[in-house]
Amino acid sequence: MKSYLVTGGAGFIGSTLCGRLLSQGHRVVILDNLDPYYDPAIKRFNLARLQALGQQRLTFIEGDLRRDADLDRTFAQGPFDLVIHLAAKAGVRPSIELPHEYNDVNVTGLLKVLEATRTRGPGRMIFASSSSVYGDGESRPLSEDLPADRPVSPYAASKRAGELYCHTWCHLYGMDITALRFFTVYGPAQRPEMAIHKFARLMTEGQEVPVFGDGQSSRDYSFIEDIVDGILAAADHLKGYQVFNLGGGRPVTLDYLVQALAKALDVNPRIVRYPAQPGDVSHTRASVEKARDLLGYRAETSIDAGLAAFVAWFKELKATR
Ligand SMILES: NC(=O)c1ccc[n+]([C@@H]2O[C@H](COP(=O)([O-])OP(=O)(O)OC[C@H]3O[C@@H](n4cnc5c(N)ncnc54)[C@H](O)[C@@H]3O)[C@@H](O)[C@H]2O)c1
Repeated sequence: MKSYLVTGGAGFIGSTLCGRLLSQGHRVVILDNLDPYYDPAIKRFNLARLQALGQQRLTFIEGDLRRDADLDRTFAQGPFDLVIHLAAKAGVRPSIELPHEYNDVNVTGLLKVLEATRTRGPGRMIFASSSSVYGDGESRPLSEDLPADRPVSPYAASKRAGELYCHTWCHLYGMDITALRFFTVYGPAQRPEMAIHKFARLMTEGQEVPVFGDGQSSRDYSFIEDIVDGILAAADHLKGYQVFNLGGGRPVTLDYLVQALAKALDVNPRIVRYPAQPGDVSHTRASVEKARDLLGYRAETSIDAGLAAFVAWFKELKATR
């Protein structure tokens, strides 16, 4: 049995990861402030599922990683074998309105977690970065050796800054930190403002579904359970500073996605088209070869199978409301 600290563990990726860790028999401590960026009731729904799974092996600390007292309470629960730092202000568009807040949580907050991980153990961390660090306009598959020095949103800049701090801390203090660049993650527990979840809500309520751009923009969607596999594989291969893409490796267009989701929900969507939004990247396509070769990462879930799993969860969530 290992002991994990998962920041942001009440959220989408965090709660799914914690579910896996608990079912493998590990001990999990979650630090999460139930940030109101989206309805905290969804985070409580996630936590209730974890509580049922984890019982004595799960400790939830409601606290803010920017507050020293909350970090103290959290690290007092150690020693930990690994810190998995997922807490962040997520979302690209709101970061344009709230750049200071994004910097505060995603950069200053990360520094606090880095320092606590260094001084209070275990000196080993996984950091949730993002495909957004690659910026826009790159038509090749995005591979880790691209410079990633042209972010197009404060969110992307904050994630790239986070990577640079992780590298610095590894260099100065000999820590082992892996930054994982996630490519648009979806599946059960997905955040409500992300495209698939938002579309599902609008479609089932019979409202219009806004499609930004010409529908030909494409995303490399990654199924959540594949991402959790990737995080756990990265945890087994920590050594110095490393960066890996974790994506699906098979981009789908927005138009395809909307149709496939409507089919999975068995509805006829009312689609309305709008111009593309500032800060959005038009195409993402992950090169996942490095993760495949060095971590044994396999993202094998098809978009149709992933959407079916999402729809099953979405119906369950709706039934509780
Ligand atoms: N979902 C994706 O497609 C995706 C893609 C790339 C990167 N990421 C990154 O992965 C991580 C997890 O994303 P997610 O989609 O699960 O988001 P999420 O918003 O569901 O989870 C983040 C969690 O962090 C918590 N949090 C925010 N500020 C905090 C603070 N100050 N103190 C303590 N907790 C705080 C939130 O309450 C939330 O539960 C984030 O770092 C995000 O930037 C996600």
